[in-house]
Amino acid sequence: MSRSARVVPAVPSALLALALTACGGVHGTPGGSGVHDPYFPKSGNGGYDVSHYDLKLDYTPGDKPRLTGIATLTARATKDLSAFDLDLEGLDVDEVTVEGKRARFNRAGQELTVRPHDDLDEDETFRVTVRYSGTPKTITDPDGSKEGWLRTADGALALGEPTGSMAWFPGNNHPSDKASYDIAVTVPKGLQAVSNGELTGETSSGDRTTFSWHTAKPMASYVATVAVGHYRISRSTVGKDRLPVYVAVDPAQVKASRKVLAKIPEIMDWEETNFGPYPFSSTGAIVDRPEDAEYALETQTRPVFPGAPDTGTLVHELAHQWYGNSVTPKTWRDMWLNEGFATYAEWLWDEDHDGDSCRQTFEALYDHGEDDYPDLWSFPPGKPSGAAHISDDPVYVRGAMVLHKIRQKVGDDTFYDIIQGWAAAHRHGNADTADFTAFVEKKAPDKDFGGIWKDWLYGDGKPDEA
Ligand code: TRP
Ligand code: ZN
Repeated sequence: MSRSARVVPAVPSALLALALTACGGVHGTPGGSGVHDPYFPKSGNGGYDVSHYDLKLDYTPGDKPRLTGIATLTARATKDLSAFDLDLEGLDVDEVTVEGKRARFNRAGQELTVRPHDDLDEDETFRVTVRYSGTPKTITDPDGSKEGWLRTADGALALGEPTGSMAWFPGNNHPSDKASYDIAVTVPKGLQAVSNGELTGETSSGDRTTFSWHTAKPMASYVATVAVGHYRISRSTVGKDRLPVYVAVDPAQVKASRKVLAKIPEIMDWEETNFGPYPFSSTGAIVDRPEDAEYALETQTRPVFPGAPDTGTLVHELAHQWYGNSVTPKTWRDMWLNEGFATYAEWLWDEDHDGDSCRQTFEALYDHGEDDYPDLWSFPPGKPSGAAHISDDPVYVRGAMVLHKIRQKVGDDTFYDIIQGWAAAHRHGNADTADFTAFVEKKAPDKDFGGIWKDWLYGDGKPDEA
């Protein structure tokens, strides 16, 4: 039988549902092609929850790079399912099995619709395996930035915020569904493959080497990463618990980044003091060349930097391990909970290290922030003005200003209680803006935050008073 003969026709899942209910004996319905994210409606899928991704990738860089993958997802059906979607952009799907049996599948845009041989029951745990191959794509975001699979001079770099992970593996590509990961990457001998978590194996066979990485704690797909290339690796530990540090630096960046990367232990220690216990079982960094990516990203346990970062950027990406990676937004509307916190972490670092106080930073921004951030007042952090704007200045800078307003109102003791308590309350989970405002109100029941929420978090334009 040819491959295409097994492929179900490209019908929207609603029609598929009608067709399937019409044939009798079938109790499930399709899971749905999104999770109603207000900014990225196609991201994620309904009807199941992934607990683990096992990714076996083989990559050969070059003019026509080739990725071959076997992705096995362990998931639980959250309803009776006749079909479910995975997100996958580009690449060719060669075979899909569910519970070891061949499944029909169909592709339309980023939706890979899988129709298992047998319906899945609500609460059933199942395994779906997707075999795929091809040249992975770079995705252009609504704001014009590039993510997904980026080719570098000597390999590749996978960046996934907000949607790019679907360029290199099929999954439930939405921050609301976090999972553990095993990522094994096979590359030509002489190259390295770096990913999230801990390196559990490095084995060579013939002219290829496989690097196996394990992430035990829940991870959102947008902070999964793979970096392939030549890297100078340094391994060490930090703190009395000897947390492993794994740092991979492009040889061309070693000199420029040595000094700043040496600050990782000090920054980790300072962040634990201020934010509470570090949520993951290793840390580190990946430094590629400036031209390899357009921005840094807080990839879990191992943030990626295009060129040597400055101290503020390193503080920022490591702060995201608490705020973003451990406490993860429920939707892309809640981005300010990531970026406002990580930006405020930079302000706090400066304050604690002979720089401007947070108050000075806040006041300068209120007085003339438009000079550096022309769009600062263009929309409120709690309600970005569209998918193209989720990483604009109001999310970062005005988001940090919201936190400073809270600090002004409650004082330092309660403020540090709030930021640590927030990281503890939703450790390894998901939270949204309403969860945050309720949390703050509970921590300071005698205070009225109404004005802060109304003017600073949700209000249009520049608030009348600092
Ligand atoms: N999260 C990254 C940072 O702050 C920046 C970023 C990259 C981003 N891509 C994004 C933010 C997409 C929002 C959306 O370091
Ligand atoms: Zn950030």
